Amino acid sequence: MTAAHRPKLGTVEETLLITLYGRAVETRDPEGLLDDPAAVAMVEAIDYDFSGFDGKPSLLGACARTLLFDHWVRGFLTRHPDGTVVEVGAGLNTRFERVDNGHVHWIDLDLPDAIALRRRFFHEDEEPRRQMLAASVLDTAWMERAAQLPGPWFFAIEAVLPYLAEDQVRRLIGELTRRFPGSRLATDSNTSATVADQDGHDVVSLMAARFDWACDDPRELEGWAPGVRLEESRSLAQLPEELLAGFSPSRRAWLRMAAETVPEKIDGYRLSLYELRGAEAREPR
Ligand SMILES: C[S@@+](CC[C@H](N)C(=O)[O-])C[C@H]1O[C@@H](n2cnc3c(N)ncnc32)[C@H](O)[C@@H]1O
Repeated sequence: MTAAHRPKLGTVEETLLITLYGRAVETRDPEGLLDDPAAVAMVEAIDYDFSGFDGKPSLLGACARTLLFDHWVRGFLTRHPDGTVVEVGAGLNTRFERVDNGHVHWIDLDLPDAIALRRRFFHEDEEPRRQMLAASVLDTAWMERAAQLPGPWFFAIEAVLPYLAEDQVRRLIGELTRRFPGSRLATDSNTSATVADQDGHDVVSLMAARFDWACDDPRELEGWAPGVRLEESRSLAQLPEELLAGFSPSRRAWLRMAAETVPEKIDGYRLSLYELRGAEAREPR
């Protein structure tokens, strides 16, 4: 193996190492939630002290969340096998490897530091349907690239928007709805109580980056732009049965226990799927 790579990441970009580590830890555990050997290899190749994350419950939560996002992306690809998925704030996520159906077009978008690290491990020239873009989600130039790919579009924005300010999230939702009618967007959000309590969060408290956007009701986004419709919103205690069926008994027990012992933490974190119907959409009668 080559010498370990010391990543140069800004504060918000560094958070991608938490979720990466979660996927590696769960892969190494025979009872783990997922199988992501690439995550194990990347953790081994990156010179970073991951030990501070050991044993933190949020690692499991992050893996359960990513599996729900996979489930939503698979559902989208069943209906639109040739559509486009934009993985916003991709970090070192391997969703493409997990859900590729041989047809989907795919963009992995992240800030320049994160994409520089990603390029050490992922090679876009190996798969013409896939590309990486180094940009902020708040720039609109990437949307022009995405618009050139076949629609409809699925925007998987996992563990990214909580770090942005509300007005930035509002502008983004408005822009995506206007430009990509008929698309889907999956994201996560924290209630204001969770944001206020973030210094007590098991892994966020270890990082310099801080949550900003707070959302007490995922339906709020429906009022932000015409044609935004909340399709599904779940806490980690409300995962779909078909997903839970694939979890080991120990992981199902862990989710049950978390819901019983820290219900305010579990309820204060929502995973939501929206339809961006666009301004022309009429409300169903
Ligand atoms: C907690 S990590 C999640 C990474 C990945 N989604 C996952 O689940 O493994 C947050 C990611 O959001 C990215 N990010 C934060 N702000 C961003 C922005 N304005 N534009 C694009 N990506 C951003 C970070 O660089 C980082 O990769």
